[in-house]
Amino acid sequence: MKFAGLEMKNPIVIASGPVTATIDQLKEAEKNGAAAVSIKQVMTRQSFRGNLRAYSVPEEVIIFPIDKRLDVEEGLALTRQAKEQTSLVVMVNLSSQEKDIEEYGRLAKRFEDVGADAIEINMCCPNFSLSKRQLGMDITEEDIETGAITGQNPKLAGEIVKVIKDYVKIPVIPKLTPTALDIGAVAEGCVRNGADGLSLVGGPSLAAPPVDIYNGGLPLYPLMDPGAFGAINGSAIRYATFKVTGQVAQRVSVPLVSSGGIDTWEHAIQMMMWGASAVSMCTSIMWRGFEVVDRIRKGMEQFLEAQGYHSYDEIVGLSLKHISSSDHLGLRPGYAQIDPAKCRNCGICTKPGHCNAVVQEQHYCRVIPERCLGCSVCVGLCPTRAITMVEAQE
Ligand SMILES: Cc1cc2nc3c(=O)[nH]c(=O)nc-3n(C[C@H](O)[C@H](O)[C@H](O)COP(=O)(O)O)c2cc1C
Ligand code: SF4
Ligand code: SF4
Repeated sequence: MKFAGLEMKNPIVIASGPVTATIDQLKEAEKNGAAAVSIKQVMTRQSFRGNLRAYSVPEEVIIFPIDKRLDVEEGLALTRQAKEQTSLVVMVNLSSQEKDIEEYGRLAKRFEDVGADAIEINMCCPNFSLSKRQLGMDITEEDIETGAITGQNPKLAGEIVKVIKDYVKIPVIPKLTPTALDIGAVAEGCVRNGADGLSLVGGPSLAAPPVDIYNGGLPLYPLMDPGAFGAINGSAIRYATFKVTGQVAQRVSVPLVSSGGIDTWEHAIQMMMWGASAVSMCTSIMWRGFEVVDRIRKGMEQFLEAQGYHSYDEIVGLSLKHISSSDHLGLRPGYAQIDPAKCRNCGICTKPGHCNAVVQEQHYCRVIPERCLGCSVCVGLCPTRAITMVEAQE
């Protein structure tokens, strides 16, 4: 398959992060079937010297305010090694901290010269000055206005793309942030200036971790005090990333690679149906190792074959035709129905605070169709899966 002009054996890209910072990790990615990697963010100046710190709950969320970036020399060495020692498509996730915007171009060119296959411009990381701005702190000359700050400004984002396009021939793929007021406008700004594809979305926004209520409200970040708001990733952002993917897919026609809570092959297929041509994951690999990639790849291939699709292209954006604005919904009248044979009369479905449609009889519960709103909340509550939604007969 092709993605943004890149020849890829499948649509799986390992997302930039602590799982793409060493050559051993990239080899693991290849061994487990990934087609491409985006190496850990390269910066012209280091803002973080410390290592990764995070609040993490597997299958739920990771919130991290710090993860060490690669220096330019480290990034160049890793790119060289990746091209010599693997057959992966290598994207370089980078951003410049210099006032002269041309530095983006010069930096990108250095990576093209050592064999990088694509440049993924980091316009997404919220852990730089966006974090300070959100806390109402002063921005000084020393502060690095990069990452999500650039991704909030359609004009600046477009200018950065244009500068890099002037320096390199390889595909340029900005990685955007949903903290932008209108990510669609930023996407359009990038595409107008030559972006070959778009990457969605790293560390969508800043989140605060839970706090220790028995210890003076200390944020639950191990080995850190004070902490900071941190980028939120993992399962918690899956549905938001489906939305952003669908949103951007409606606005531009370049291919999209989307990351955000992809833990299973089903999530990956859904992301593609929302408009992504390629899928990407980081947190699930942090939780479960690179075997996740192998499982996702195999599951996706089996799905395609079992469903009679001939290529991934056939599923990209399938869901888009089923979405509209809330004032254009096509509501079909209907109600919940309880199968008495499956109901064990536990009464859970009588609890929803917004509903008075369910009555408890002697041996089972029953829905009064005229009172049912059709919301489907009870369906997921039933432990025996006795409830289904049915359409009202004319
Ligand atoms: C600890 C950590 C570090 C990350 N570092 C980067 C980075 O350097 N550059 C980048 O573009 N995205 C970075 N990301 C974002 C991921 O590439 C990815 O877009 C995001 O985490 C959503 O995917 P996921 O839910 O599969 O993790 C990082 C994510 C995590 C969790
Ligand atoms: S939740 Fe399910 S099993 Fe329990 S009473 Fe309702 S329908 Fe029956
Ligand atoms: S679908 Fe909604 S309104 Fe109808 S019975 Fe279930 S919870 Fe009540």
